[in-house]
Amino acid sequence: MESLARRFGTPLYVYSANHITQRLELFQLAFSSLPHLVCYAVKANSTLAILQMLACRGAGFDVVSGGELERVLAADRAAAERIVFSGIGKTAAEMDLALRSGILLFNVESEGELELLSERAAKLRKRAQIALRVNPDVFTETHPYISTGMREHKFGIDIRRARAVYRKAGKYLEPCGVSVHIGSQIRSAEPFGAAAQRVAKLIADLRRDEHPIRFMDVGGGLGIEYHSDRPFDPEEKVRQYAAALMPIVESTGGLTLLLEPGRFLVAQAGALLARVLYVKKNGEKTFVITDGAMNDLIRPALYQAFHEIVPVAPRRSSRRAPADVVGPVCETGDFFARDRELPALQPGELVAILDAGAYGMSLASNYNSRPRPAEVLVEGKRARLIRRRETIEDMLAQERAEALL
Ligand code: LLP
Repeated sequence: MESLARRFGTPLYVYSANHITQRLELFQLAFSSLPHLVCYAVKANSTLAILQMLACRGAGFDVVSGGELERVLAADRAAAERIVFSGIGKTAAEMDLALRSGILLFNVESEGELELLSERAAKLRKRAQIALRVNPDVFTETHPYISTGMREHKFGIDIRRARAVYRKAGKYLEPCGVSVHIGSQIRSAEPFGAAAQRVAKLIADLRRDEHPIRFMDVGGGLGIEYHSDRPFDPEEKVRQYAAALMPIVESTGGLTLLLEPGRFLVAQAGALLARVLYVKKNGEKTFVITDGAMNDLIRPALYQAFHEIVPVAPRRSSRRAPADVVGPVCETGDFFARDRELPALQPGELVAILDAGAYGMSLASNYNSRPRPAEVLVEGKRARLIRRRETIEDMLAQERAEALL
């Protein structure tokens, strides 16, 4: 880590390729007795090299914008037929791109979207396979910002109204699936089973209405454990998840199961390395100021999310004491940890902020005009720069400041 930080600078995202491919294989193996496709949720980490690595191993992709769709196509054109397109605000241009690319499935989230997609498909003379994303009204225990499966959320179509909406698909749209996504960072398998059960019932109704439903898309959301002192066995987690879903899919029959894990595949494969710039005391409090900030990793600021922070080269003797680990951004919310028991840190030391592979770089911004970090992928003994550090020139390139005279 120290040598990577010296070579590529900090703040730096470092990912393990093996870890990511192993997580994908856990999923593929757990569901191997069923027709299924693991459609990695691109939003978790959309860096091209990661998409390419997953594409080569047979993954499909869940995208939520034209930009994500273009990323998958740039990583592997042939993956188009393994793409599902989710999201509540698809534009006509995004629909056209997806129709022309020949994606697997549109997850339609409103009647308005159904109408527009039908129009675009007719215009381009392209048939499209669609699923409605239904809102199953299932409660999940997670942060309110990332819970999505209840009636008061903006996502999906009320499951009680879905049957009527399916009847409205025009002749270019083929209703062949039902989708659901109940939220993110859900650590128990139970709500996934409950949602799938409701979807299975709807599928039975839809088949009676003579819609040839072949896909059940259960979304993503399987959580990880961010606290290193709490037990977490990824293999067991996936097994429990599969055990909650597979009997429902099997008893419904004739289905290909689509899964959209994001976090579970990439979160624990990545760390954000940051260098300590200063250590200062304000009254009782100790602040460790690093060169990484909320613009590089916003999860603590946005969701009060917990990430373990460890010194890369811990000293044996150092005593632990509470400190806030913060960045240089001019916001009180710019912190990675508050009142965290940490070994005494000194300027120049390198810290690793763990489990930052998901929703880290993909949520990074230029706030405070800070260039976004570089990313490195470690494959065995090899480390490859997969995104160079953004430069000030990159940031200024899109702007014009001609004087308004
Ligand atoms: N499918 C759909 C339709 C989604 O909206 C999401 C995540 C996923 C799949 C993948 O969920 P996952 O398996 O990664 O939990 N930025 C937040 C998480 C936002 C999740 C949004 N949707 C965070 O950092 O916790």
